Amino acid sequence: MDVSQEPINIEHIREASEILKKGGLVAFPTETVYGLGGDATDKEASKKIYQAKGRPSDNPLIVHIAKFSQLEDISSDLPETARKLADAFWPGPLTMVVNKNEVIPYETTGGLDTVAVRMPNNPVALALIEESGCMIAAPSANTSGRPSPTKASHVYEDLSGKIEAILDGGSVDIGLESTIVDLTEDVVTILRPGYINMEMLKEVVGQVRMDPGIVYNDKGTTGGAKPKAPGMRYKHYAPKGDLTIVSGEEDKVVSAINELAAQGIAAGKKVGIIATIETKGKYNCGEVLVIGDRTEEKSIAHNLYNILREFDELDVDLIYSESFATPNMGQAIMNRLLKAAGQKTIEV
Ligand code: TXA
Ligand code: MG
Repeated sequence: MDVSQEPINIEHIREASEILKKGGLVAFPTETVYGLGGDATDKEASKKIYQAKGRPSDNPLIVHIAKFSQLEDISSDLPETARKLADAFWPGPLTMVVNKNEVIPYETTGGLDTVAVRMPNNPVALALIEESGCMIAAPSANTSGRPSPTKASHVYEDLSGKIEAILDGGSVDIGLESTIVDLTEDVVTILRPGYINMEMLKEVVGQVRMDPGIVYNDKGTTGGAKPKAPGMRYKHYAPKGDLTIVSGEEDKVVSAINELAAQGIAAGKKVGIIATIETKGKYNCGEVLVIGDRTEEKSIAHNLYNILREFDELDVDLIYSESFATPNMGQAIMNRLLKAAGQKTIEV
């Protein structure tokens, strides 16, 4: 699981760097998910990224850098909070949205005057940025509409034949995309929750708010507010099977899921269940997959996308999942899980 323990193959990094310098595309590991990289200053490379992913071209890309001065090179009116946040969290799973200058073309920012930037904490990613001399524009390396890739084989499944190379850095560390913060308004605003949570950000910059467009009420709506990050507006990954989240006290959740699964099976459906190490023995029917250990929330974040891909392969019709409002990463985990479920939740 720990990428940093794998030796860096400098030959592979050099080959990949040559591809990037010539305007080609290379998928590479980061600590969050795999990225599909191209030279961020090359508009043709950015166009190729959208094409390979089948992604709408108004959904901007994140620019990956290896030193803070590169953020200064591509931004204008950089607020002081950027330096503070970089000192606290870079390299790491935090993306900052700042005003851009002319260095990064509109093709990379989906036509916006702002640019999203992060310094990934992964030795392969950093070596690639340094060796190529490129700032690398990279969205998650999945086909648009599929879960983000957490290992090289996921990238291969989605993009083989469409890109020049994949650097295999093993299984990623975190498994959910970076936290995105907007620094262009008065108050630092979270546009996408991730490993770096609200409390961690508050410790560094004081006031932090959540983009109202990503806060859902108990009716499963945002009350009309639209997410500021264009990518959070799109209908996101929905597994082939119809996913429902069941939340409440553990024992009640298990019996409710057992009952729903039995009903589904009786109706001739193939049913999948997302369980934890703690509960897996308590389910008595269906395809039960273990997402992780409740006492180690990182394990749940790490396996979420993988388990959703596995249920697609198993071709289940219905999926029932426990809820994972864990203390630190709960917001990020539930943001992705609720999206996959189209916000469908049953309270027991
Ligand atoms: O962890 C990550 O951030 C991964 C790895 C590869 O670094 N990348 C990633 O990229 O998740 P992607 O393209 O799948 O998601 C980028 C998100 C999208 O929701 C996009 O709309 C938003 O960032 N975004 C990019 N530039 C933006 C900007 N200028 N303003 C607001 N949102 C922006
Ligand atoms: Mg993505």
